[in-house]
Amino acid sequence: MCGIVGFIGDEPAAPVVLKALIKLEYRGYDSAGMVSICDGKIHFRKDAGKITDVQRKHRLDRLPGKIAVGHVRWATHGRADRINAHPHFDCKKQIAVVHNGIIENYQELRAALVGKHRFASEVDTEVICHLIEDYMEAGASLEKALLKAVGELRGSYALVVVSSREPEKIVATSKDSPLIVGLDDGKYFVASDALSFLDRTNEVVFLEEGELVSLTRDGAFFLNREGEEIRKKSQRVDWQWEEASKKGYDFFMLKEILEQPEAMRRALIQDRKLIMEFAKEIWEARRVVITACGTSRHVALLASYLFSRLAGKLCDVVTASEFQYFCDSIAEDTLVIAISQSGETADVIEGVKRAKAKGARVFSIINVVGSLLTRISDRAIYLNCGPEIGVAATKSFLCQLVIFYMLAFALMGKLEEGIEKLEQVARQIGDNLNDEKLKKLARRMKNKNNFYYMARGLNLAIAAEGALKLKEISYIHAECMPAGELKHGTLALIEEGTPVVAICPKDDTFYETLNNVMEIKARGGFVIGVSDENNEVYDHWIKIPKMEEIFYPLVAIMPLQLLAYHLAAARGKDPDRPRHLAKSVTVK
Ligand code: G6P
Repeated sequence: MCGIVGFIGDEPAAPVVLKALIKLEYRGYDSAGMVSICDGKIHFRKDAGKITDVQRKHRLDRLPGKIAVGHVRWATHGRADRINAHPHFDCKKQIAVVHNGIIENYQELRAALVGKHRFASEVDTEVICHLIEDYMEAGASLEKALLKAVGELRGSYALVVVSSREPEKIVATSKDSPLIVGLDDGKYFVASDALSFLDRTNEVVFLEEGELVSLTRDGAFFLNREGEEIRKKSQRVDWQWEEASKKGYDFFMLKEILEQPEAMRRALIQDRKLIMEFAKEIWEARRVVITACGTSRHVALLASYLFSRLAGKLCDVVTASEFQYFCDSIAEDTLVIAISQSGETADVIEGVKRAKAKGARVFSIINVVGSLLTRISDRAIYLNCGPEIGVAATKSFLCQLVIFYMLAFALMGKLEEGIEKLEQVARQIGDNLNDEKLKKLARRMKNKNNFYYMARGLNLAIAAEGALKLKEISYIHAECMPAGELKHGTLALIEEGTPVVAICPKDDTFYETLNNVMEIKARGGFVIGVSDENNEVYDHWIKIPKMEEIFYPLVAIMPLQLLAYHLAAARGKDPDRPRHLAKSVTVK
């Protein structure tokens, strides 16, 4: 959360930063701001609201100079207003700081600084400005002052700093929050996500924990946490910015839902040897723990059913934010599988670090190439599905599932056969999809305030994901439960017309789920059946293609994503920017 872009070059910097920052809007849209340096002076503009609105109002792109740093905020400490928008400053407005992350000990630091310094905002970031100010007053360079300041911080941060006292540079450092440097022949970027500047350069350097970069027109200079100069190798990032454009769709989310057949085919292109080795370690590990957050956690859930069913391997699923409370039982013979689209979710990173400290092996399944999680894992498999911009994950969910199906087949020693079958599924996932019918259903249901989702077995994670999608983007309360659990409480909430989505394909769960559907029906519920076969008990049938039964989850998810999308649209909500949420959650 929060997106940062800094640029230094031989052209007006503000328009470059603005263009890059707009691409990072998925990281936060509570407020936006920019600072530039021109003729040795600091200039800045900032306000609450989305970057495009702040630009319209304040013309950020008109800030003068060839050095600029911008920020889009997802609020943690302090309200989402103009005062708390970044950049933040020292007392004399000579040092400007933008920050992604959370400073856990900011209250103590603030209490120690407040007598001597004037605080203008409520945010944790401001303590960093005043710490740097003190160190610079004592004679440190901007680089040294920043290194000393971060030495006092507890928490996570990606920090980008400029100062009119040393006006020819941008200085940045990070811990547990990503910062990537872009090198473009005398022009340099530093950003939270390389995607923001990929239209200018694919040559990047990942800043590792504690390292600092100083960008001047003469080059990018890297220092370790002791302030000694270090050499770092650049790499090429293959993603193209065009992949992350809307391509004529109204919203990224819709585009990403509809490109899933192609995304799935891309996810299937994997190094077979890597999959086999990954599977071998899963098989040999005494304990396997899968950890993730949000949508990725639903993948973990399905993976645990899949491994058990296809390979007889029992795994635990631990929500990443709860991982630390299970750490006592993690040991050297544990294999932890972390799933994360972004590869930077703070809870996942924290869990992985704790697992590694206990001696566990860590494998990851990630979409964003080169992300933090890749770098701290023993092995990583990429989804290869291209950038996902919509805040609500869609294609990454399907592709993460695909990787687990491959692993499950590999565990059975049938990887090739599995891949062939999955290629066939990729050809069928859009079959029977009747978007007009879904739209009509959404219009009919748009005033409902509660939805229930239910399923059994492999399909349960799909029901959970369907409910999450609905909540996230339409703000309708939605709850999912194993169909058999209904009678242990939730049934009390079913009234005349209450919508209940039942994933009920003709598989081993069919008859039992159908019984539970009858229980709903008997209490007046409005049943939306997701199945390959119609049934008189359904008030609305969402038809999915007939499949070999283990593959139903892969074809059942797309109509649920679309249903959520159409419900959000019918209620006039922006599915790409759901309130209070962000795509990349870099705070714990
Ligand atoms: C946020 C996003 C979700 C995502 C979750 C985990 O909450 O809004 O869509 O599922 O983070 O993200 P990850 O990148 O770790 O998969």
